[in-house]
Amino acid sequence: MLAKTLLLAGGIATTLACAHLPRGENPNNSTMFPRIEAGSDAPADAATLGYSLNHFSLNVKNISRSIDWYSSVLGLRLIFNFRATDKLSIAYMAHSHGGKNGTGYQTVRELNRQKNNLEGLLELVHYDNPKGDLVPSTVRANTFSHYGLIVPDVPAAQARFERLGVNILKKAGVSNDLKGPIAEAFGLGDVFERDSEEAKRIEQALLATGGLDFVIIADPDGNLIEVQSLFTPQFEF
Ligand SMILES: *[C@@H]1O[C@H](CO)[C@@H](O)[C@H](O)[C@H]1NC(C)=O
Ligand SMILES: *[C@@H]1O[C@H](CO)[C@@H](O)[C@H](O)[C@H]1NC(C)=O
Ligand SMILES: *[C@@H]1O[C@H](CO)[C@@H](O)[C@H](O)[C@H]1NC(C)=O
Ligand SMILES: *[C@@H]1O[C@H](CO)[C@@H](O)[C@H](O)[C@H]1NC(C)=O
Repeated sequence: MLAKTLLLAGGIATTLACAHLPRGENPNNSTMFPRIEAGSDAPADAATLGYSLNHFSLNVKNISRSIDWYSSVLGLRLIFNFRATDKLSIAYMAHSHGGKNGTGYQTVRELNRQKNNLEGLLELVHYDNPKGDLVPSTVRANTFSHYGLIVPDVPAAQARFERLGVNILKKAGVSNDLKGPIAEAFGLGDVFERDSEEAKRIEQALLATGGLDFVIIADPDGNLIEVQSLFTPQFEF
């Protein structure tokens, strides 16, 4: 059953893979948009061997609310909540699905032991600061844009988000409305209100990334989460 699903999804991915970038145009043509500038095959500095991006961190307004949301909606498990003082809390969460050995389960002590050997962890920081006013990127553009979640089945994930009452900013297959919170989080400001030509170019270019099929949701603080399929087609170059 799983093999069949993967095969089917693989077939869809192959079909879509060619559909996204304009065909027959030289991807090296440096005067053409949209275009792909591929990365270099040059190896990284050997001194960085073993570096890995381990966690990212969000400042949150209510740490219990965020822990609840990230565990019940995205399936992250709480490794610990470090109550540093009566006002400062620092929590670590991680996905354990599949672990590293396919069993899909680790005890929290095992997760904690592996903490620095995992990727994609989430750190939540809360400081009870009466003057603190945390503004998420969906409200005012800042250097944090969003993060991406990979799911094996986007429509199933979307249906689940709907059942759970998650704030869905964009559904899969809907390209229309990038205005508002999504544009803000991507640092696009009011381009959609201001410059319809540029807006059209942006929309078309984003379609070429497979963005039409993404579901975009917001967490309780208004942070933007892009939900992509494991089978989202890759750029060809
Ligand atoms: C684009 O440039 C790369 C690297 O210079 C080259 O290998 C490739 O053949 C070029 N592609 C086309 C379609 O010209
Ligand atoms: C590069 O792209 C421009 C703009 O689309 C086009 O006019 C030009 O013919 C292209 N050049 C090549 C070598 O493909
Ligand atoms: C924080 O969130 C929890 C769980 O959602 C809720 O019970 C609690 O009232 C919230 N605390 C504050 C100060 O809003
Ligand atoms: C898989 O990982 C879990 C958690 O670390 C461990 O308890 C279990 O023994 C492992 N199973 C295998 C087959 O390695």
